[in-house]
Amino acid sequence: MEIAIIPSLEHPTLPRAELEAVLAAENFDYSFKKIEDGLMVLELSDKLFPDLPNLVRRLSFTHEVFRVLIHTQNDYLEKKAGIYNWEGILKGDYAVRVKKIGSKPDLNSLDMEKKLGGIIKRVTGAKVNLENPQTFIRVVLNHDEVLVGDRVSTISKKHFFELKPHKRPFFYPGSMHPKLARCMVNLTRVKRGERLLDPFCGTGGILIEAGIMGARVIGSDLDYKMVEGTKENLTHCGITDFQIFRADARNLPLTEAVDAVATDPPYGISASTGGEKSQDLYQQSMVSIAQIIKEDGLVCMATPHYLDISEVLEGTNFEVIEQHHIRMHKSLTRVISVLKLV
Ligand SMILES: C[S@@+](CC[C@H](N)C(=O)[O-])C[C@H]1O[C@@H](n2cnc3c(N)ncnc32)[C@H](O)[C@@H]1O
Repeated sequence: MEIAIIPSLEHPTLPRAELEAVLAAENFDYSFKKIEDGLMVLELSDKLFPDLPNLVRRLSFTHEVFRVLIHTQNDYLEKKAGIYNWEGILKGDYAVRVKKIGSKPDLNSLDMEKKLGGIIKRVTGAKVNLENPQTFIRVVLNHDEVLVGDRVSTISKKHFFELKPHKRPFFYPGSMHPKLARCMVNLTRVKRGERLLDPFCGTGGILIEAGIMGARVIGSDLDYKMVEGTKENLTHCGITDFQIFRADARNLPLTEAVDAVATDPPYGISASTGGEKSQDLYQQSMVSIAQIIKEDGLVCMATPHYLDISEVLEGTNFEVIEQHHIRMHKSLTRVISVLKLV
């Protein structure tokens, strides 16, 4: 079966990197059939269809995922749609929505929605419901190519809105946006039930996302206020399986190894480094993290662009396996690095 993904265009590399990480974390075997700006198509075994919601639920830099039912040239669409077994797909009422990806100025999306909607109505007799359809049919026009599919499940924008840092019981400036926090957790490829650590947990933004995904979360911070605040925020989000304590990230007191680390250490601007030069704080923390992460565990870390990552990793066996740059403003770019032990 073909699965089409409409990625967010907010960042050039994170949507694909996150998708590949989640496919690995959820044990999906797949191959890419198409990777373009605004559209990715994967080939997956049909038997993975029931597991797709688990994949979709985790993604943050993706707008939509749908199973491709018809993949054709624009000229053949009506004919193929007219003989398609829509009864086997429709769960009740439906809506058809068209999205143009590549240039196709001569095609009118509204006309196409009406035409395809009409064909489905004729074949099945089902009702159209544009507000809250039981089956959402997505059409993507990509130059002369047309993909028609049924949406797997939606990526909840509401989730990211409702869990914005200032809407949580404990807030502190410097909290990470939930979308990026989720993406960082995904880049560690952590699985449900595995242990994820954030040794600079702050208000718990990263741990909330990991906890929602079903990871067992462990967090520490030098500041008691943050420790208590993180506990409060996790509880507010319905996460109960956590271990949060006060510790210096340079000397982590863990006895059992963790599966993954996702962290956003302080830059010394809005979040304090406790008077320590950030380069030294980062480097010493990485030495400590290297001692408590499993051999095959991954670290996803945010750093400011002016820190030299090779100096940060000095004295450890970590190597960078991928890196993404996010421009925050004129004088700050965040570098998101994924690290593994060699
Ligand atoms: C940028 S904030 C983390 C923000 C977090 N991602 C969030 O969403 O709230 C960095 C945190 O590191 C903590 N910190 C500073 N020095 C530390 C150290 N040596 N060990 C552990 N935590 C430290 C600060 O108290 C602060 O809460």
